[in-house]
Amino acid sequence: MTHRAQRVLVTGATSGIGSACARAFHRAGWQVVVTGRRQERLDDLRAELGCSTLCFDVRDFAATEAALADQGVFDVVLNNAGLSRGLEPIWQGSLDDWNEMLDTNVKGLLHVTRVLLPGMVEAGFGHVINIGSIAGHEAYPNGAVYCASKHAVLAITQSMRKDTCGTGVKVSTVDPGLVHTEFSLVRFHGDQERADSTYDGMTPLRGEDVAATVLWVAEAPAHVNVAEVLLLPNDQASAGIVARKGK
Ligand SMILES: NC(=O)c1ccc[n+]([C@@H]2O[C@H](COP(=O)([O-])OP(=O)(O)OC[C@H]3O[C@@H](n4cnc5c(N)ncnc54)[C@H](OP(=O)(O)O)[C@@H]3O)[C@@H](O)[C@H]2O)c1
Repeated sequence: MTHRAQRVLVTGATSGIGSACARAFHRAGWQVVVTGRRQERLDDLRAELGCSTLCFDVRDFAATEAALADQGVFDVVLNNAGLSRGLEPIWQGSLDDWNEMLDTNVKGLLHVTRVLLPGMVEAGFGHVINIGSIAGHEAYPNGAVYCASKHAVLAITQSMRKDTCGTGVKVSTVDPGLVHTEFSLVRFHGDQERADSTYDGMTPLRGEDVAATVLWVAEAPAHVNVAEVLLLPNDQASAGIVARKGK
């Protein structure tokens, strides 16, 4: 019997956790399809990994459907594309930031899932892995809307697992604490100094650490579902408790 290479879709693979996951799946022998909005970075990944690339904005359902509808059934759909914007008391929050977070983290994940899940259910196999966050377990000050978006991801994951129970499709979430990626740079609208201060005096996770866990979740035996993983740096005990040297 010839062994069929497994196929994974990684959304938001132009940076951080997503690009680390694309590399980890590629090294493990999977066929990788990556997405993002920055075409140049997708081109770089294609040159590096020989993967397929799809350039679209997950907030746009029509674009998501056009990109994914004829992709067939993936063994794993990794809903990773997401972002935070701003860190301020809710009465000072920006409506644009709120809309961008909710439209990307919640509706974007729903868009990708709505296009791909019917084929998985019909085929009777496949695995949706969502990247949530510790912010989906605990709401922290000045992060109301980001935390709300990740609480929504956890709720969607849990409902989806109940909906798909018995269909053969698995649903999991991997929820990291602090990971050093472009996340903080995006959160602080390009302020590199403020972004760097997020990791002052502590050792955050790297994208590769999250990728190793995602791959482990994806490669569990067919009868095993690693349903929820909370993955923290050793210097972090909760959203607000971070041990910082010299502080
Ligand atoms: N870093 C952390 O501390 C941390 C902790 C917990 C959870 N997370 C979660 O991990 C996931 C990945 O974040 P990261 O830390 O790797 O940040 P990152 O380095 O900024 O990467 C975010 C990725 O999401 C993509 N993306 C953002 N908006 C998109 C959109 N509208 N359409 C398509 N793709 C979009 C970006 O690609 P383009 O810009 O090219 O579109 C990029 O590839 C997010 O869901 C985030 O909430 C991060």
